[in-house]
Amino acid sequence: MNELDALVDSARAGFAQAATPADLENTKAQFLGKSGRITELMKGMAALSVDEKKSRGAAINQAKQAIEAALTARRQALADAELEVQLKAEALDVTLPGRQRGQGGLHPVSLTLERIEAIFGSMGFEVAEGPEIESDWFNFTALNTPEDHPARSMHDTFYVEGGSDKAPNLLRTHTSPMQIRHAVQHVKRHRAAIDNGTGMPEIRVIAPGRTYRVDSDATHSPMFHQCEGLWIGENVSFKDLKYVFTDFCRTFFESEDLVLRFRPSFFPFTEPSAEIDIQFQSGPLAGRWLEVAGSGQVHPNVVRNMGLDPERYIGFAFGMGPDRLTMLRYGVNDLRLFFDGDIRFLSQFR
Ligand code: DAH
Repeated sequence: MNELDALVDSARAGFAQAATPADLENTKAQFLGKSGRITELMKGMAALSVDEKKSRGAAINQAKQAIEAALTARRQALADAELEVQLKAEALDVTLPGRQRGQGGLHPVSLTLERIEAIFGSMGFEVAEGPEIESDWFNFTALNTPEDHPARSMHDTFYVEGGSDKAPNLLRTHTSPMQIRHAVQHVKRHRAAIDNGTGMPEIRVIAPGRTYRVDSDATHSPMFHQCEGLWIGENVSFKDLKYVFTDFCRTFFESEDLVLRFRPSFFPFTEPSAEIDIQFQSGPLAGRWLEVAGSGQVHPNVVRNMGLDPERYIGFAFGMGPDRLTMLRYGVNDLRLFFDGDIRFLSQFR
């Protein structure tokens, strides 16, 4: 083997040994660099005759081209190998189980509101909604709670801009203003029939929604829910209230094993008034009286503020706490859990 073939062989061997592109460039310099072997050979031709230069030069060039070809091939091989490693590293394992989107669900209090609406809906009650920023008139005065009435101080709340200085607007302290708002609309629609003696269709409505007071502890939250109920007609009595509310409670708690007590109480907008307590006859809460709503026969002044004659129209109202109903139904003992937004708590109701 001549000297040039040996050089080409040793270049190929050197390139083959280079494990990285950087190694390869170092090896290349030994053969093709400024003071590499090929350059040395070229310099060595200086003393040769013209003819010898021709043939020697051609032979060296051939060797150089062979080395360059080997270099290019090795560069390509290293680049391919690198790509291969990268592809392997980034490979997707399509057999892995996919990441699933978390399944959402309704908030427990929303579930309760849906239940309340469905049950009263089945008894012929409409569902009405109203504003959370309320005027003094609807929240208090129209509900027979005049400005200096002590019942107002039990409803300490958040006052907001608007209204008058003496009677600013506020975040509603209960859903009872919806009694007036809804009845006034209803009466307006049926004014002619009321006035000509035909009479209006009965008012039968519930009004669920958010309400506000300044309390905050394990059983009180500054924002809480209420659901108002109102039934007004020419012949609606306390007996109907008892029947309707008993039926509601038994359906809501899915238990016939449940008794109700109407405990005399006071509300400015009802006369007589009653607190409604329930008692389970079995289960973890058995034997305790649990307060679930306020209620009563709608006060004549309130009927008047609805635009109706209290000598002719009569009925009952109630206001219950969906948060509390939810706590009782699911055995939750701290109201604040409903408003913390902790997914570990909420996901149990999916
Ligand atoms: N609004 C009362 C409260 O928040 C609850 C209430 C009591 C509503 C008696 C009524 C009712 O409709 O008749 O304490």
